[in-house]
Amino acid sequence: MSYQVLARKYRPRNFETLVGQEHVVRALTHALRTGRLHHAYLFTGTRGVGKTTLSRILAKSLNCVGPDGQGSITAEPCGQCEPCRAIDAGRFVDYVEMDAASNRGVDEMAQLLEQAVYAPSNARFKVYMIDEVHMLTNHAFNSMLKTLEEPPEHVKFILATTDPQKIPVTVLSRCLQFNLKQMPPGHIVGHLENILGQEGVTFEQSALRLLAQGAHGSMRDALSLTDQAIAYAAGAVTLDAVQGMLGALDQSYLVRLLDALANGDGADLMAVADEMASRSLSYNGALQDLGTLLHRIALAQTVPAALPDDLPELADIQRLATQFDPQEVQLFYQIAVHGRNEIGLAPDEYAGFTMTLLRMLAFRPGQGGADQAAAPAPAALARAMPQAAPARPAAAVAAPAAQAARPAAPGAAAAASASAHASAPAPAPSAPPAAQGGAGRAMTSARAALDAALEAARAGSRMGGVPRRPAPSGDAPAARSPAAGSPAAGSPAAAAPRHAGSSRKNSRRRRPASSTTTRSPSRK
Ligand SMILES: Nc1ncnc2c1ncn2[C@@H]1O[C@H](COP(=O)(O)OP(=O)(O)OP(=O)(O)O)[C@@H](O)[C@H]1O
Ligand SMILES: [Mg+2]
Ligand SMILES: [Zn+2]
Repeated sequence: MSYQVLARKYRPRNFETLVGQEHVVRALTHALRTGRLHHAYLFTGTRGVGKTTLSRILAKSLNCVGPDGQGSITAEPCGQCEPCRAIDAGRFVDYVEMDAASNRGVDEMAQLLEQAVYAPSNARFKVYMIDEVHMLTNHAFNSMLKTLEEPPEHVKFILATTDPQKIPVTVLSRCLQFNLKQMPPGHIVGHLENILGQEGVTFEQSALRLLAQGAHGSMRDALSLTDQAIAYAAGAVTLDAVQGMLGALDQSYLVRLLDALANGDGADLMAVADEMASRSLSYNGALQDLGTLLHRIALAQTVPAALPDDLPELADIQRLATQFDPQEVQLFYQIAVHGRNEIGLAPDEYAGFTMTLLRMLAFRPGQGGADQAAAPAPAALARAMPQAAPARPAAAVAAPAAQAARPAAPGAAAAASASAHASAPAPAPSAPPAAQGGAGRAMTSARAALDAALEAARAGSRMGGVPRRPAPSGDAPAARSPAAGSPAAGSPAAAAPRHAGSSRKNSRRRRPASSTTTRSPSRK
């Protein structure tokens, strides 16, 4: 027999073997046992968490006749009778899986509904499973409303989607909705252990943990990655092989980076980054993992109980938690997230990554950063944004102003915050420098400076690199529209078109910045 991928070969065939989703299993088995069956179910959840699988198990439960052919509706489908085997093999005529992504229209729906009125050919129920149901057109949705509300006795609908937001409320209200959860890494590891045991493949526990991490909550992804790892490693699934395959980062690199930061050792920091380069590790992935690690360190500092206790690097996390202030960890996290966002703007990934590390070092109190001289930080900051050249004056001005290191900066602060469209609040610059002592205060102002500078840089880069003139006199309106507002704009004849032109330019400028503030980084 030809090779079947793990995900298909080990698709759970009954409720007991399904991993997780206890809340759904419980409700469904209860309904099946008591005979209180709804006529339409909606399963939602990300890819590969068991929607199609559950739908098949439910269809079997509804149609199972038991090994002796005498059974009735059951929560434990036998898997041996003809309906059970036919549904598992995908050849049961009364279980129809329709892919709404390719049958979106009202015509296909009309055809399905037409068929639905006829009694099942050889079963108790006709079960219609409509996958990716959010892809149906509005017409198609409307045409099914009537049947979905009062289908014939012998019809059950199962709808599945990864995107329930796109389903009309009229449809939602006619279904019993179950939200399938993402698979926790622990569940994935357990399932992989079980499967690899059955397959007779040797493995390392830490390799499975890494695979589970790479699956991001999807059991199918985990199984596909495992298939790939078996092929890659030509047999045993070892940590080394999985790391090589995923281009994944050995967490020890990140721990060493944070150790170097704790020691304020820039040379060490660069040495680790170079070592990573020699192993062709993804810097983008490294920043993502660094964010995860910092999140765990923050948890260890503030809510230790929330930290999973099966983390391989738990000891390191707890040690690092004592070496940084909670505020520093927050700041590093923010820098890592911003750094990842901007890595595409950097001259190259290496520069983007190392600059992010240097930024962390620059803002580390007591390491030539925020709480010492104010000058190095903004300078480092301005240099850290290679694409932000046009906005550099604003960024360079914003940072010291935010740090209140120069009492003479109110105008400049106004110009900077105006140019960042007031989305990065600069603290009141009236506080004298002496009042800014203490690591906590330095962290806050460093963060504000970073925010202001990043915002200004982003606004600058969104503007297609229109050079922005630094505020010569610290006058905010002049900084915003130098040509229009300046009395030296030229003769009245020249002033009119130029004014129109510059105001158009201004409106063009304003749009991208406001879209920055409303943008919501959602990812499935
Ligand atoms: N809860 C689970 N327990 C065990 N295995 C699972 C589970 N969920 C998914 N799988 C595995 O992943 C494979 C795909 O699952 P399934 O087809 O049910 O995903 P899905 O939720 O329908 O995903 P999609 O939205 O991509 O269609 C299954 O064949 C099975 O091997
Ligand atoms: Mg599916
Ligand atoms: Zn059966």
